Amino acid sequence: MGRRRLDHIERLDARLQSLADETIEDVLELGCGDGRVSGYLSQAHGFNVVAADVDPAQIEWARRQNPIHSRLRFSVEDATELSFGDDSFDLVVAQNLFQHLPRWRRAVGEISRVLRPGGHLIWFDQATPGAFRRLMARLSPRSGVYTLDEVAECFAAVRFRETFRERVRQGPIARYQLVLRKAT
Ligand SMILES: C[S@@+](CC[C@H](N)C(=O)[O-])C[C@H]1O[C@@H](n2cnc3c(N)ncnc32)[C@H](O)[C@@H]1O
Repeated sequence: MGRRRLDHIERLDARLQSLADETIEDVLELGCGDGRVSGYLSQAHGFNVVAADVDPAQIEWARRQNPIHSRLRFSVEDATELSFGDDSFDLVVAQNLFQHLPRWRRAVGEISRVLRPGGHLIWFDQATPGAFRRLMARLSPRSGVYTLDEVAECFAAVRFRETFRERVRQGPIARYQLVLRKAT
């Protein structure tokens, strides 16, 4: 497994440890890519995981990369328009996804809808410094462009409480890990 994937998993495990007292059974990973993180969550933690990605080719690839077992399933899904019912999951994981979503605010609404009350989101992504926001929006209209505060405020507006925030990598475009809890 590559170093990047191991970093993802170590970061996730650290947050999952802090959620050890919570009941987590049903997990949705949005933008799962090759599905290795979902595979790990289902095997190592015993969660029922749906690995979701908008790209059917990624989902096909993910199916082939991960051993078949009953606690892991794959689904082609647009994070801004999910097929799942309300209150379907205890935990949503979204890593390096929002940077690809011009309509990331819609994904916030969908995550809020499919999470059960008291459920958690583990989010990891880059965020644009406020000073560059307008420039980035002009240069990359097809990407997700947002400051971290904008993301946090959007979740707060749908009654999520931030329980963890860490700046993960230095550099012109910082990456952050957030954990947010939906109100009960
Ligand atoms: C940079 S990859 C991240 C993969 C993995 N989460 C990781 O961190 O290594 C972004 C993934 O998001 C998926 N994606 C892009 N737009 C999406 C959308 N609207 N809904 C769901 N997945 C999307 C892409 O197909 C891609 O697999």
